[in-house]
Formats: sequence, C-alpha cells, structure tokens
Amino acid sequence: MSVSQLIQKINEVAANPPAQDSLDPADRIALLEALDSLRGAIESPVEATARIAFGAYEQVGLRLGIDMGIFDCLATVLPAGEMEVTELAEKIDANTLLVSRVMRLLSAMGLFKEVSENKFANGPLAPVFADGSPFPDVVLHLTTGAEVLVKLPEYLKNTKYKNPMNAKNGPFQFAKGTDLHYLIGSKPSLLKQKRLQLRWQSSGDPWFDFYPVEERFAQSSSTDTPLMVDIGGSLGNDLAAFHARFPSLRGSLVLEELPEVLDSITDLDASIVQVKHDFFLPQPKIALGAKAYFLSTILHDWPDKEGKIILAHVRSAMNEESVLLINENALPDTNVPLYPAKLDFLMMSFFSGIDRTVKQFRTLLEESGFELVEAHQPKVVRSGTGYIFEAILKR
Ligand SMILES: C[S@@+](CC[C@H](N)C(=O)[O-])C[C@H]1O[C@@H](n2cnc3c(N)ncnc32)[C@H](O)[C@@H]1O
Repeated sequence: MSVSQLIQKINEVAANPPAQDSLDPADRIALLEALDSLRGAIESPVEATARIAFGAYEQVGLRLGIDMGIFDCLATVLPAGEMEVTELAEKIDANTLLVSRVMRLLSAMGLFKEVSENKFANGPLAPVFADGSPFPDVVLHLTTGAEVLVKLPEYLKNTKYKNPMNAKNGPFQFAKGTDLHYLIGSKPSLLKQKRLQLRWQSSGDPWFDFYPVEERFAQSSSTDTPLMVDIGGSLGNDLAAFHARFPSLRGSLVLEELPEVLDSITDLDASIVQVKHDFFLPQPKIALGAKAYFLSTILHDWPDKEGKIILAHVRSAMNEESVLLINENALPDTNVPLYPAKLDFLMMSFFSGIDRTVKQFRTLLEESGFELVEAHQPKVVRSGTGYIFEAILKR
C-alpha cells in the first residue's frame, strides 16, 4: 500500500469511525496502541520534541476552557449548535480576542470545530468537560498538581537525584513551601477532587468482578466477625458497591477512615460500620480477625517505610483465615505504558509515593511478613488498570 493510499484509508475510517461501544474493548486498546506506534515511527525529532515539550499547553488550554465557562456555555447549544466567538465572549464575560485564542487552541486539540471563521461547534468530546461531569474536577486537580510537577526537576537536582522517600519532606513540600503532608497541606476541596479522580480512574471493572469473592469468602460463616475491613476506604463507595453485589455474604463490613472524611459522609448504607481510625496505629478491636482487609490505592501514597507500618498493623489484626487484598495500579515489570508511568510520577511528586511494579509489591509483601497468593487482573487490561494482590500471613 502506498503512503497516499494509507492516508486515504485512515481518513476514510476517521470520517466514519466504528462506534466505540461496538468495538471489542481489547481491540479498541490495541488499535490505539497501533496508532501510537505508527506516530512514533514517522514523527521527526522536531515534531516529537514539540509534542512532548508543549504538552503542558494543552493541559492549560483545557483548564482555561473549564474555568472560563466555555465548555458549559457551548454545552447549552448541543447537539449541533454553533456559536460566533463574539457571542461566546459576551455570554462568558471575557475578552473576545482572548476567547478566540483559547478557542483556536481547543479546536486544534479536537475539542471544538471551527465551522467558519471564528464560529465554533462542539467536538464529540466537548460535553465531557461541561458542568455535571467528573472530568472538570480531574482537570482542576491535575493542573493544580502541575505546580508541584514543574518544580520536580529542581527538587531532584537539589537532592542530587535521590529517589524521594520522605513523605513529609518531598517534592510537594518543596514546591509549596510547607512541612505538611499533601493530604493535610492541600485544600479540602482538592481532596474532594482527588476522590472524584479516583472514582473516575477506577471506572473500569470493579475489583470484585475479577476476584473470586464467592469462592474465597464462602468459608466466612460468622456474623460476629468482620467480613471485610476497608482501610482508608474514603466515603465507603467500594464497600457499598460490594454489599450491593453480595448482599447475602455474612459478617460485618467495616469502613475505616480519618475523622474528617467520615464526618463528611452524608448517606451510606447503614449496614456499613464506620470507624474513625488512623492506619498508622494498631487496628481497633472491632476489626480484628476479619476475613479480608482491603487496601485500595493506599500503599502507592506512601514510601516503603510508611507502607510497612500500615502493613504491620494489618498483619497483627489478621488470623490464618484472613486475606489481605491490595487494589492498586501496579506496573508491569517491563515496558510500562505511558499513562501508568505518568501516574507513578504523580505519586512521586505529591506523596514521595510510588506506583510499584508487580515485583516490588512481591518484595514489599514478603518483607512485611506476607505471602503473595495471586495477582488478579481483569480480562481486559486497560492502561492503568489495577490489580488485586491477594496475600496471606507468611507461613
Ligand atoms: C488515595 S485515597 C484511597 C481511597 C479509597 N480507598 C479508594 O480506593 O478510593 C487514600 C485514602 O486514605 C485516607 N487516609 C490518609 N491517611 C490516613 C490515615 N493515616 N489513616 C486512615 N486513612 C487515611 C485518605 O483520607 C483517603 O481517603
């Protein structure tokens, strides 16, 4: 096939693409990877440098589109509406020239279409960034975090390129001039955004779809002992979803969290027991001898030193029947895709944390007195898809 035939073919498919939900999920991901590898093969060094080094401008353009109310405003003219930039500028109360420059950037990013000079229509993705969707909060969270990321090179240079290992004196504290931990030093609204982001990230298969709950929990017979303790379980969404899926499993469901998080819960299934608990302290009596201890996206927030303290307290609460379930974005040992590699840098810059590889998890567990039974993954592995590491007390 000649290059011009290839271009024609790609343009034909792009003009009339298959509906996303008609594609097999694994095929869709393989197609994206194929497109990325074709781009990588034909891009010149100048083009590749421009794409990578100018990446932050797209992030900022997106943030401006949200902050200035552009997405909200254009969402109201859906589905096929069009708007002159002068009208848009008037509606959002901003300078027309500035709005036209922002719209130029956002259109070049494919979010809007310039249907005629300075007249715009929504692209298919534009509504995703309008009010009511979790995505604007994700963008707000990540662009705010970029303040820390941008100072990472300076921080690492100052430390003579040591891997950040100090949860209370790392890139976040350096960039923000604080000695507070990220979870305390960032504003409460940012924490809400972070929780939203997590919900968004984990919007793939719930963990209990690929962990054999019924097979493993069948022996858990007593209503007196806890069935599952969700440590640092945020607002209890995971436990609530678990309970909805397996309502007849016996044993209590315990949600452990910091007081300010539990105090912010307004509605949660009454069957879930809420316990104010700091996971750096021994497990409370109510949580001893549970069938399962669940740590979901907790350990990557902490360097090994703190991770081992958290695990030691879980270990002391477990008995021979107990399992530890760790739900995390563990990285493959080799050839980590771009998105999870970026998430690891997010952990590094905010928490001096780390998205561990499967091998690093095995080591952490072994050094903490656990035996890894199995690393479960869903059938379709997306970039950034989590694992469930199932561990028991080392025999
Ligand atoms: C990354 S979030 C994970 C939340 C939830 N497990 C999930 O998967 O969505 C980390 C959670 O740990 C909680 N956390 C942080 N420090 C804690 C501590 N010392 N004790 C208990 N929970 C803590 C935070 O409040 C937050 O909800």
